[in-house]
Amino acid sequence: MLILLCGIVFLHVAALALLFVSTVVSAWAVNPTSSADLWFNCTTINGVNSCQPGDTGVWIQAVQALMILSIIFSFLSLFLFFCQLFTLQKGGRFFLTGAFQVFASLFVMSGAIIYTVMNAEWVPPSESFGFAYILAWVAFPLILISGLIYVILRKRE
Ligand SMILES: *[C@@H]1O[C@H](CO)[C@@H](O)[C@H](O)[C@H]1NC(C)=O
Repeated sequence: MLILLCGIVFLHVAALALLFVSTVVSAWAVNPTSSADLWFNCTTINGVNSCQPGDTGVWIQAVQALMILSIIFSFLSLFLFFCQLFTLQKGGRFFLTGAFQVFASLFVMSGAIIYTVMNAEWVPPSESFGFAYILAWVAFPLILISGLIYVILRKRE
C-alpha cells in the first residue's frame, strides 16, 4: 500500500510539474528566432532578446484560463489527497481527490485542443509547435490516469 501511495503521489507531482513547466515556459510556438508562450512572444535577433505581449483574443484567453485552472485543480487535488489520507475511513475511496484531478485533466485537454484547433488565429503559419505544447499533451494522460487511480483506490491500513 505504501508503495502504491508513493507511486501515485510521484505520478501526481510529476504531472503537476509538467503542467506547470508547460504553462510558464515560452515554447508553445517556435521558429528559429522566436518562441512564444500563451502570454508573450520573445524574439532573439543578433543576441538581443525582446519580448512582446502576445495575442489577446478570446480563444487564447480561454487556453490561458484552462491551463491555470488545471494547475489549480491538480494542486488542490494533491492537497485533498493528503487530507483524505488522514481522514478517510478504512476502505474509503479517494473520490474527491480523483474528481479534482479528473477535472484538471479535462481542463488541460480542452486547453490543448483549443490551442491546436484555433492557433491559426494568433500563430503565423511559419511557426511550429514547441515542447511546452507537447508537454501539455503529455501531462493530460498522466493527470487523467492519476485521477482514475484515485477514484478506484481504496484506503487500507
Ligand atoms: C513572434 O514575433 C516574431 C517577430 O516579430 C514573429 O516572426 C513570430 O511569428 C511571432 N510568433 C508568434 C507566435 O506570434
